[in-house]
Amino acid sequence: MAKKIVVMGTGYVGLPLAIMLARAGYEVVGVDIEENVVDAINTGVLHLAEEEIKRIFQEPSVRKNLRAQKVPCDADAFIISVPTPIDERKRVADLTQVIKSLESIVPYLRSGNLVIIESTVPPLTCRDIIAPVIEKTGLKVNKDVFICHCPERILPGAVFDEIVNNDRIIGGMDAKAAKMAREIYASFVKGNLYLTDDVTAELAKLMENTYRDVNIALANEFAAVAEGLGINILEAIKLANKHPRVKILKPGIGTGGHCIPVDPWFIKEVDPINSRLIHTARLINDEVPIYIAAKIRKAVKDIDNPNIVVLGMTYKADTYDVRNSPAQKIIGLLKADGYQVTAYDPMVDGQRYSSIKEIAKDADALVVLVEHKVIRDELAKKEGEIKKAMRHPMVLRFYHEASESE
Ligand SMILES: NC(=O)c1ccc[n+]([C@@H]2O[C@H](COP(=O)([O-])OP(=O)(O)OC[C@H]3O[C@@H](n4cnc5c(N)ncnc54)[C@H](O)[C@@H]3O)[C@@H](O)[C@H]2O)c1
Repeated sequence: MAKKIVVMGTGYVGLPLAIMLARAGYEVVGVDIEENVVDAINTGVLHLAEEEIKRIFQEPSVRKNLRAQKVPCDADAFIISVPTPIDERKRVADLTQVIKSLESIVPYLRSGNLVIIESTVPPLTCRDIIAPVIEKTGLKVNKDVFICHCPERILPGAVFDEIVNNDRIIGGMDAKAAKMAREIYASFVKGNLYLTDDVTAELAKLMENTYRDVNIALANEFAAVAEGLGINILEAIKLANKHPRVKILKPGIGTGGHCIPVDPWFIKEVDPINSRLIHTARLINDEVPIYIAAKIRKAVKDIDNPNIVVLGMTYKADTYDVRNSPAQKIIGLLKADGYQVTAYDPMVDGQRYSSIKEIAKDADALVVLVEHKVIRDELAKKEGEIKKAMRHPMVLRFYHEASESE
């Protein structure tokens, strides 16, 4: 039975996990290469905007059971939750950080240990990459050391609810590995724990985000068709969704975040022949910001040196996460064209504002790229006043009922 757990990488995924494990009574060592991350954990400062996790972090048992350091140490189980970005040129998984973190725990591995990969990885990573690194030590996988892929599904902004209540997939390289991992997750997860093999777990995780990506691409493609036909896409989707077995998603300004624009590439990487639809969807969604930037350019084309104020910089509404944000791509495209763009976001540190009216003063266009609830509410109440404060009363919203751009 595992008593001491090392969590490699204490970011969005690893830190909440370490906190929940510490709360469940494990002795937890969070390992991160960033000194400020380690110091913050040891002084009780949470660098994530997750209120419930912040509160739990201050519970005496958590403060007692969790410490952080820059180098690993002995443990019963090691959980790897370091980034797995995409290699932008080759569009394949960059596993450098997974391999480096694994190599750093290798000197501490001993018989009976469990290694869990929580990082999102391409299928066959556990077998073809993780296991050989471990076996270089002389320890045998499935005999001395056990390997499991337990992918994470949390939504930034709702981490406590999701880390506790989501169902989890536990993919063991053998049945013993899966059982050992199940015991650890059962200590804090209230959702169901589904045991399977490692490759099924690796693919299932990628399929979840690929499903979202492909369906979003379909909605975006429908939106482009509707625009050519001069009809309102939201009206068409609403009517099509009256079919009892149809659920078309809403189009948007592109996909973002840590998972959706990345994970489908990991499937294409292992089987390009059978992932043509997946690949096409990826290309469609990656092009959407270019299309939205073109719409903004067209809207301001008759204004000299337009002063553009953008609202919303995160990858989607009601999160603080700005990673791979299509809004940021659009802002970058406009700035690269020489437009004067000032961007704000009420959920992002350093980008907040006192009121939309204040920031829209003398603007020629107020472009709402991310419809956070606070933005929607303020616009619903004060759009008239805001427009009065602007030089040109132009508010651009995309795929929003009652918006001028529809
Ligand atoms: N963020 C999400 O919502 C989410 C959801 C599901 C899955 N994932 C997956 O989880 C994994 C981790 O993502 P994240 O969002 O937590 O990343 P993150 O960037 O927030 O955190 C990763 C941490 O790992 C640290 N790190 C890097 N190399 C290290 C090493 N060799 N040793 C120790 N620490 C190291 C970094 O300093 C960083 O603090 C990725 O594979 C991601 O795809 C993320």
